[in-house]
Amino acid sequence: MNEHVTVNIAAARPTLPDSQTVTSVRHWTDRLFSFRVTRPASLRFRSGEFVMIGLMGEPDPKTGKAKPLLRAYSIASPAWDDELEFYSIKVPDGPLTSRLQHIQPGDEIILRPKPVGTLVHDALLPGKRLWFFATGTGIAPFASLIREPQTFEDYNEIILCHTCRDVAELEYGRELVEHVKTDEMMQELLGDALKKLRYFPTTTREPSARMGRITDLLRSGELFSELGVMPISPQTDRAMVCGSMGLNTDMKAILEGLGLREGANSDPAEYVVEKAFVG
Ligand code: A2P
Repeated sequence: MNEHVTVNIAAARPTLPDSQTVTSVRHWTDRLFSFRVTRPASLRFRSGEFVMIGLMGEPDPKTGKAKPLLRAYSIASPAWDDELEFYSIKVPDGPLTSRLQHIQPGDEIILRPKPVGTLVHDALLPGKRLWFFATGTGIAPFASLIREPQTFEDYNEIILCHTCRDVAELEYGRELVEHVKTDEMMQELLGDALKKLRYFPTTTREPSARMGRITDLLRSGELFSELGVMPISPQTDRAMVCGSMGLNTDMKAILEGLGLREGANSDPAEYVVEKAFVG
């Protein structure tokens, strides 16, 4: 499956509170899709942040009133983009995604324009090398950050590690990295600095060029030998982590073991972590 649909949104008339109009939808696999929506003129955010988005819920059988059904979604597009992009899993019995997966260009979604999050440059102390560690849809905030010029200005090397079950689930990230490296506007903006970005995809359930959980490859040191780089150190390295609870817990232990401390907006340090949207 690889449908890509776009629509002219000029005729769309908003009817929901905080409504935005879907401009394109792309289905990557049976489990994954991405979509773009109009951006509220007043919305300012930092690349890597998330917002609450959703649809109107079913009316309450007693009162007949419907409430918005909202979930936290990382904005996958960079802060400078005219539209907002999201990357989502489809959960067959998930209250929101069972319906959201059927959106079409021209449809409306609810978007609360209050961006927040810790996967932002402000939550890290200055460093030389930046690691992005993602599983599944956890790549979304990094899809934003690898299109953010500050990422390339602040670091000498940026390494995006993405682990998925199979090759098809890596495609969103693979295409994105290719796009970032070849896009005319990114070339004009960043030129040779784009060479700082390296991509390290792995699969765990389908054979591919690189197999294994990123956590195992980190512990064994294979990650560093394959990339031909020095191991992670708190003096030079900064990391952002976004994935399942399991990944986040394991990565915290590994990074703390290497001497990195968890940062926050109010107290920047060497790494930051956030849970990827799962339901
Ligand atoms: P695995 O196949 O070994 O479970 P999911 O699609 O379930 O969200 O998983 C996305 C990817 O994250 C899968 O490749 C999965 O590997 C991997 N993963 C799940 N838990 C962890 C963890 N604790 N550490 C590292 N990778 C993990």
